[in-house]
Amino acid sequence: MVALDVVHASNARLRELGPGLVALFVGGTSGIGEFTLKAFVQNTVSPRVYLVGRNATAADRIIKECGELNKEAKVEFLRADVTELKEVDRACKEIEKREKRINLIVQTQGNLSLNLRNENPEGLDRKFTLNYYSRMRFISNLLPQLRTASTEPPHFSRTLSVLGAGHENAINLSDLDLKTTFTGKRCANHTILMNDFMAEEFAAREPGISFLHSYPGFVNTGLARELPIWARVALKVVTPLLSLFMVGADETGQRQLFISTSGIYPPAKPVEGTALAAGVPLAKGVSLSKGSDGKVRSGAYLVNWNGEVTGNEKLLSNYRSQGVGKTVWEHTMGMFQKVAKINEGRVDSATS
Ligand SMILES: NC(=O)c1ccc[n+]([C@@H]2O[C@H](COP(=O)([O-])OP(=O)(O)OC[C@H]3O[C@@H](n4cnc5c(N)ncnc54)[C@H](OP(=O)(O)O)[C@@H]3O)[C@@H](O)[C@H]2O)c1
Repeated sequence: MVALDVVHASNARLRELGPGLVALFVGGTSGIGEFTLKAFVQNTVSPRVYLVGRNATAADRIIKECGELNKEAKVEFLRADVTELKEVDRACKEIEKREKRINLIVQTQGNLSLNLRNENPEGLDRKFTLNYYSRMRFISNLLPQLRTASTEPPHFSRTLSVLGAGHENAINLSDLDLKTTFTGKRCANHTILMNDFMAEEFAAREPGISFLHSYPGFVNTGLARELPIWARVALKVVTPLLSLFMVGADETGQRQLFISTSGIYPPAKPVEGTALAAGVPLAKGVSLSKGSDGKVRSGAYLVNWNGEVTGNEKLLSNYRSQGVGKTVWEHTMGMFQKVAKINEGRVDSATS
């Protein structure tokens, strides 16, 4: 476990990366995304932050609170429902217009629901899209900006997807998007494992950027708001008991910021000659983490709530030897092409 004082000390050194870091928080209007965004704003010099979600009232509140934490911070809300990739693309275009580089992308978009498969017009399940396709699409669209961040001072470039690293289970390789075999449990299994492998695939292609997937622990947030009323009442009743095992809001924000920025999780090949390219320098006695494949400096990391590396090693190495990383990559890029074609048709029918 990374001690909390090590986390705080590392986050305080983020200022050494200098002014003007640019960050995108998708799902920053509530919960873990909000806590991490505020920790980022508090610990950086004149940051520019983009906040993506649907809830404009929450965004207004957060922007005001960020102004109190750091007067020099610039936080902008981009309203988007990212259960559709078309909306992801629209949000990315807005960001691309404003920024040549992005130093950090943190993604926490998600919900807790008991829904069955709920297809969007692009043929993708909406919850699956929140947990997986939208996240990969944001990264994929914004790779030019992440690359630029890795090549320009302070050479710092990272992405973090907060979901369920370490909670991997077997998946159905012949129905990766769960078109015909969807259940809530399988959706969790597929999106967790696919987040893992995409971190590895991106890291292998982009050696100047770190790709992380974390598990936040049990955190009291707005996650249950889309559950039916009986389930929300039941959850409220057991919350005092569960709170014994919960990670607090401030600790979660600080820890996820540490995971997003510490030099413990460096890119595979950070730019040479500048220590900051690997992330915030390590405190004495702290050593580099192993990557998801067990190798130091792999550039892809699966991280538990407390900063330790995690992952179902046996399952992952079995899947890795079967080439599942490549399968997941090709499936995802294939889906992006398929969806792009569907959306071209949607534009045509909207304009005709
Ligand atoms: N809390 C936990 O104990 C826990 C445990 C394990 C894993 N996780 C995972 O951690 C992630 C964050 O959870 P959280 O607890 O922070 O939940 P949360 O408080 O409900 O935050 C979820 C965020 O996702 C955004 N979001 C949801 N649907 C969206 C949509 N259609 N379009 C755009 N944004 C959308 C919400 O923004 P808007 O409402 O503004 O759209 C909100 O900012 C989730 O993936 C969750 O599965 C949480």
